[in-house]
Amino acid sequence: IKEEKYDFRRVLKRLPGEVYSLLNVIRREADKHDVRVYLVGGMVRDLILGLENNDLDFMVEGNIKYYLRALSRTFEENYTYNDKFKTGRIRLNSGYNLDFAVARSEVYTSPGALPEVETGEIVEDLFRRDFTVNALAIGVDSQNWGTLIDFFGGIHDIEHKKLRVLHRFSFLDDPTRIIRGLRLALRLGFSFQDKTNLLMKEALKFGNFKRISKPRIIKEFSLLFSKKMDRRITGLLKQFPIFHLLDLDPRVDESKFSIIKRAECILDYFRQKNYNIKEWLIRMVVLLDGVEEKKLANWGLNRGEREILTFPSVIDTIIDKLRTNSTPLKLKKLLEGFTLEQILLLLIYTEGKERKQVYKYINYLSKVDLKINGHDLIELGLKPGPVIKEVLDKVWEAKVDNGLKTREEELRFARKIIGDKLK
Ligand code: CTP
Repeated sequence: IKEEKYDFRRVLKRLPGEVYSLLNVIRREADKHDVRVYLVGGMVRDLILGLENNDLDFMVEGNIKYYLRALSRTFEENYTYNDKFKTGRIRLNSGYNLDFAVARSEVYTSPGALPEVETGEIVEDLFRRDFTVNALAIGVDSQNWGTLIDFFGGIHDIEHKKLRVLHRFSFLDDPTRIIRGLRLALRLGFSFQDKTNLLMKEALKFGNFKRISKPRIIKEFSLLFSKKMDRRITGLLKQFPIFHLLDLDPRVDESKFSIIKRAECILDYFRQKNYNIKEWLIRMVVLLDGVEEKKLANWGLNRGEREILTFPSVIDTIIDKLRTNSTPLKLKKLLEGFTLEQILLLLIYTEGKERKQVYKYINYLSKVDLKINGHDLIELGLKPGPVIKEVLDKVWEAKVDNGLKTREEELRFARKIIGDKLK
């Protein structure tokens, strides 16, 4: 219907040259192997909106396995294939991820179906998706090149900046979609269609989420909180208490925004310096004021990640120590065991003198490394034991104070202390 308005052959041409030629490879191989291929999901949405996306999802009608093998040869890249789910992936060196799947109904309901998948199965596949804006497909084989499939009014919703769910059980079937919805709303600047808004709230209120795996929920939270937050987040969290999905009920009001703003400033600063930060954990901590250890036992996180989430329970003690810690060495010893994320949380939760101390540590002291080590001291005649650490600490302090620059200067200084000790 919408072809009159959107000529999707032309829309495809708007893609960056690299993606366009990639699609042409997909097309040529599809023709050669007599399969039909559709670009589906988030990439179609972003293509229409003119947003960048490196993840291309394709739906294949036909022998996906042979098609994938042929494609991987043409691209000269490896591929992975899951025979049970009939899904496969090719990661291109250029940074693009290509995911392939057959229409889902074929996999689940008629595994013996002929390669020719009925159009009905494409509808069914698209109908199983979360929002109408994600349930669009564009043909990319020659027969269908540029043909838009829009059964649920996705284009209309994109034009009206609305997120609309496809059916009323969607959030009860899969409540992680509520978190996805918030992520999309923030990223695209869309709002929820009234009915969808209601269904999300109802699902959060009445849904029974006991059987949903927590790691799946966490995965969606990590995506939601991986991007910079702005003022809209507090409003959305108040309307849609998604933390209930993790059995948490934090108070999120406008006042939370000042601490988020602070966190974002600090994250900006360190991101620019190319630090590799698990930003989503920091945002979770700030919004939740930390999480109790016993609550996050089955979230599927590693110890380091759990220690970041529980960090606020020890923060006051550390701040007290920061207040009384006077020497650089003591400061280093206090902070060196913490992860980058914990240090950033300290910056977020401290002020004045204490905050300065943390900055001093991260910007300067944590980078002061000795060029000598214990072996060098043993070679200078010191016996293995705690004294080694003692001397190394002294050299480190001297390095901070008088800037010992070279390894020779460090060795000379170490020799002097050892000389005093051996006297
Ligand atoms: N999907 C869904 N329910 C989920 C997860 C995914 O219905 N819980 C559907 C969505 O319609 C989505 C498609 O599966 O378009 C592919 O999922 P994914 O790759 O995670 O999402 P994209 O939309 O491709 O990516 P993004 O929104 O992150 O850009």
